[in-house]
Amino acid sequence: MQFNERLEAYRKRAERALDEWLPAADTRPARLHAAMRHAVESGGKRLRPVLLFAAADLYTPAANPAPAAAAVEMLHTYSLVHDDLPCMDDSPLRRGQPTVHVAFDEATAVLAGDALLTEAFFVLARAYAPRPETAAALARLLGEAANSRHLIGGQAADTLAEDTKISAEDLDFIHLNKTAALIGASLSMGLVLTDAPATAHETVRRMGRSLGLAFQIVDDLLDATGDEAVVGKPLRADARHAKNTYPRLHGITASRKRARKLTQQALAQAAKLDADTAFLESLIQHLEKRIA
Ligand code: IPE
Ligand code: IPE
Ligand code: MG
Ligand code: MG
Ligand code: MG
Repeated sequence: MQFNERLEAYRKRAERALDEWLPAADTRPARLHAAMRHAVESGGKRLRPVLLFAAADLYTPAANPAPAAAAVEMLHTYSLVHDDLPCMDDSPLRRGQPTVHVAFDEATAVLAGDALLTEAFFVLARAYAPRPETAAALARLLGEAANSRHLIGGQAADTLAEDTKISAEDLDFIHLNKTAALIGASLSMGLVLTDAPATAHETVRRMGRSLGLAFQIVDDLLDATGDEAVVGKPLRADARHAKNTYPRLHGITASRKRARKLTQQALAQAAKLDADTAFLESLIQHLEKRIA
């Protein structure tokens, strides 16, 4: 299968799993469940589920990756709903649609985010109940990536650093935690669902770090130089909020160079795996060149 076809097939699989595992929009209270579905169903690249599926396809499968893919996308979507709140990045548009606090209201957006976060772990517990060790490994990876030392720690440091000038090391702390941790966890969760050897887990962990940092640098570059109609969210917002970003601290050229170097590192890590990594390598390259 060609790269684009396989990417599309993984996206469709993620969307089917989300539809299956999310409560119906008319579940009581309907406003809350409609808001959860609004956030999840307004699109997005589905990168994290795609990475999870791609990792799960590297080795012999031991369990169905679809519920884990749905869980990781629910958790990611919750982080976006809260990231866009007026008290955070105050953004009216996400994935080309009004954000949840705009389409609904602020309290509903907070609660829809809370509910998506909670549902992610509920899905893991239910779907992998017949394999308790797998369920625990998946919950551990997702919980670690999302906790106060990782995703939330990165978001807190990002918010606290607005209007201040931070060091390059502080900026890497933000990017590695707010973004790279969950990207890495997506790959690792996919691998947990296979018979991959222990060495592969370590290689994939390093790959997630390089790829995740590159991804956030490209996100920063898109905010500074991209096209809003394509990206589907308001751009030039980082400068408006005096955010610490790669372009601001390092300049556009050095940021592009660093994204390229990290992409090369992720590719080198992929090449170390004793598996067919053609799709994963194309995906890693695609993410450096992406326009959305
Ligand atoms: C946006 O993530 C937030 C970041 C971590 C940069 P994505 O760029 O993956 O957003 P969607 O899921 O495609 O909307
Ligand atoms: C968001 O980073 C990271 C998380 C939601 C965890 P950004 O604030 O840069 O993401 P965008 O640019 O709003 O998508
Ligand atoms: Mg933010
Ligand atoms: Mg934001
Ligand atoms: Mg951004």
